[in-house]
Amino acid sequence: MAFPNRLLEDIRARVPLPDVVGKRVKLTRKGREHSGLCPFHNEKTPSFTVSEDKGFYHCFGCGAHGDVISFVMNTEGLSFPETVERLAAEAGLEVPVETPEAREEAKRRADLYDVVEAACIWFEKQLRAPSGRAALDYLQARGLRDETISRFRLGYAPDGSGGLAVTLKAMGADESQLIEAGLLRRPDDGRAPYSFFRDRVMFPIADRRGRIIAFGGRLMGDVKAAKYVNSPDTPLFDKGRNLYNFGAARQASFETGQLVVAEGYMDVIALSQAGIEAAVAPLGTAMTEDQIRAVWRLTQEPTLCFDGDTAGQRAAARAAERVLPLLQPGKSLRFALLPPGEDPDSLIARQGAAAMRQILEAAQPLSEVIWRMEVGAAPIDTPERRADLQARLEKRVEDIGDATVREHYRNAVRDRLWASFRSQGGKGRGKVAPQGNTGAHIRSQMRQQSRRAQQAILAALIHHPRLRDEFDEALEAVEFEPDLDKLRQQLQNLFAGHVDLDFEAIQAHFTGSGDESLLQGVLEKQVLVLAPFANPRASVEDARRGLSHLIDRRVHERLRQEVVDLGRSAAASADKAGLDRVMAARRDAIEIDRQLADIDE
Ligand code: UTP
Ligand code: MN
Repeated sequence: MAFPNRLLEDIRARVPLPDVVGKRVKLTRKGREHSGLCPFHNEKTPSFTVSEDKGFYHCFGCGAHGDVISFVMNTEGLSFPETVERLAAEAGLEVPVETPEAREEAKRRADLYDVVEAACIWFEKQLRAPSGRAALDYLQARGLRDETISRFRLGYAPDGSGGLAVTLKAMGADESQLIEAGLLRRPDDGRAPYSFFRDRVMFPIADRRGRIIAFGGRLMGDVKAAKYVNSPDTPLFDKGRNLYNFGAARQASFETGQLVVAEGYMDVIALSQAGIEAAVAPLGTAMTEDQIRAVWRLTQEPTLCFDGDTAGQRAAARAAERVLPLLQPGKSLRFALLPPGEDPDSLIARQGAAAMRQILEAAQPLSEVIWRMEVGAAPIDTPERRADLQARLEKRVEDIGDATVREHYRNAVRDRLWASFRSQGGKGRGKVAPQGNTGAHIRSQMRQQSRRAQQAILAALIHHPRLRDEFDEALEAVEFEPDLDKLRQQLQNLFAGHVDLDFEAIQAHFTGSGDESLLQGVLEKQVLVLAPFANPRASVEDARRGLSHLIDRRVHERLRQEVVDLGRSAAASADKAGLDRVMAARRDAIEIDRQLADIDE
């Protein structure tokens, strides 16, 4: 039987391929890629890869290639329908049963597309007719060019437009179809059906393949209440699953790697007219889970736009809270806050496309929004209040569904909390700026923090000697303070000379060696509290993640310091070549900052 495309798409989106493959193949993860021994041919070294993002596997050895459905078919010998049914059941998706009625239904649906398309053409025509004059004036007064109006297929539904039903019936549509398509509405009191859209500017809504499935209709003029009505949900239209302009935005976003999510039809159209064509909007509701997954298929970090007023900020906060359970490695949201009272449409009209681009570029990452939400909520001037902030942030982190993302948030929150508590001294609201601290004081705190990090790296390796080979090379890039470096050297020598070294053996080696206290210093509580992954009880997975996080941080911080130093010495020489080097160093510093921020998120 034929399964609806939507079902197959849902299965691919909801059943993570690495989980399914992981049941048969031992996979090693590297970012979003996994690899292991190919289950389709005999091999000793892994050439089988699984891409979580793309949702397919590929074997470089035997060429096996496919998605989650073909993997199950090929490894379990199930037929296509059996596989689809099993995966659908696992994902909690309903499989439609094909009956004669269902076939009839499918046919009706196909006809319904034609009906809605015909209505769209009719509305477009009305906009260009004399009776549509006011509507056309309205759209032009809002700054829309003719080409834009045609591209978005905007139209006009005249007052009392019985004309639509007459035209469509003449084309062979029957009344029940017009009702089903949401174009006519049958009143409860038994009177004749009437037109759903009357005296409104019409915004056709297309599905991802570009077929028109519904409409939004706007009253003209400065109406406040209920200025828009949208088609009801119909067999073609589900407002929680579709996004305005998705089809066109998909193409544009593929080219630019970006995607803007605005609130309204006019915002999307204004953005597009301003050259920002990768823009979509939900349909009168907050973004649903389905819609978030849909935009993530276009780009990893779509940018949501919000009005900068308090209501807009609340909406942004709600969106941030809602997305936490859905986060996946690499996938997130960015938040663009517009000036109070503005939406993208009004901002572009007032200040132009460049201003809009600037605001999009300044969009904040999700982690920043969450941080600011909590830090801004209450003062942190006493230990109890700081503990409260920490508890609130940790509670947010626990909402994150994905373990890897959660772990990184945990690290980032912890780093940032300590940094802000330290720099904050005893006073004030959640100011992160180190006001009132002398430079020397800050530097000594930074040194302290950096020493803790070096100690945590060593502690993790001592408690998890299995990881030594993996991090042998990375360790070379980290700068240790002289005493810790001595310990590092001894450890690496020890590792080099012994194959299976456990914690006890390491401890035994240092006992009575004179460096025992050095080892104890590394394993002290103050270190382990800040870096739980370095605990003996942490899983190897956690230890591995924590180690690479910290090592990356150390390396990047060192790079940044080098850049700053270079900039300083070049500035001292103050000749043209020197200044050029300063500029170049600055650019590098910015790039490194960006990478550091990426690591923290
Ligand atoms: P807005 O109130 O932000 O309107 O609603 P807008 O898009 O800026 O509209 P203009 O600029 O005044 O024309 C955002 C979206 O919410 C839905 C529509 O989808 C709209 O585009 N909406 C709004 C409704 O469904 N009904 C309404 O009465 C208002
Ligand atoms: Mn608007």
